[in-house]
Amino acid sequence: MKSSVRKMFDEIANRYDFLNHTLSCFQDILWRRSCCRELKRQTPGKRLLDLCGGTGDFAVTYEKFNGKPDIAVLGDFSFGMLKGAVGKKMTAVPVQLDAMKMPFGDASFDVVLNGFGMRNLSDAEGGLRESARVLADGGYLQVLEFFSPRGTFNKFFYKRLAPLFIPVLGAFFSKREAYEYLVNSVLRFLPVADFVALAEKNGFELVHVKPCFFGVAFRVLLRRRT
Ligand SMILES: C[S@@+](CC[C@H](N)C(=O)[O-])C[C@H]1O[C@@H](n2cnc3c(N)ncnc32)[C@H](O)[C@@H]1O
Repeated sequence: MKSSVRKMFDEIANRYDFLNHTLSCFQDILWRRSCCRELKRQTPGKRLLDLCGGTGDFAVTYEKFNGKPDIAVLGDFSFGMLKGAVGKKMTAVPVQLDAMKMPFGDASFDVVLNGFGMRNLSDAEGGLRESARVLADGGYLQVLEFFSPRGTFNKFFYKRLAPLFIPVLGAFFSKREAYEYLVNSVLRFLPVADFVALAEKNGFELVHVKPCFFGVAFRVLLRRRT
């Protein structure tokens, strides 16, 4: 489980929540809420995995909107990030794990959340396959992510604006390289349409794709094919 990405998240963990909210102008909170409300409408079963869950904000929001799951796991490979979840209002049990090879049996969960984690995996297709494996038939994968920009506004935002201010704020409050990595990882990642196609090839059907703030991020809700 040794990786430079894991080390980077360990290093920025103590300022992660603060910068997440600041850089997104608190929009990340609203986006997680929208994801969790949408899941409530789908009435999923009661076993939850917040994968690449970091400091646990997605799991906390999920429980607020959907009640206490029967089983709830907060899974991440960064111990520092998991430590950031201590004291938050949730029942999810932190487990240090690699999203590419999880220590769970097939069909162990009804809902897998993945907030801003897919882009960080060494192989998105492998990550999707592994998420499909641990989901029960008909279970949901809710992805919230920054995808490679396609529209004019988003290309301008990620290629011109974001490199000007995100690394600077990162340097001031946390670690410059981590926030340079953030911008570059978005540009290197798949566009949302390609990600959906990959998910469909790896055991999922699309429920919906919804843009957040003019497509700066997307909420992608997928259902494990039966
Ligand atoms: C940008 S943070 C997102 C945290 C949280 N989900 C949120 O909504 O703010 C991405 C997280 O993915 C985790 N991560 C990246 N690759 C991983 C892997 N292979 N296995 C487990 N966690 C991973 C990182 O440690 C980090 O905590």
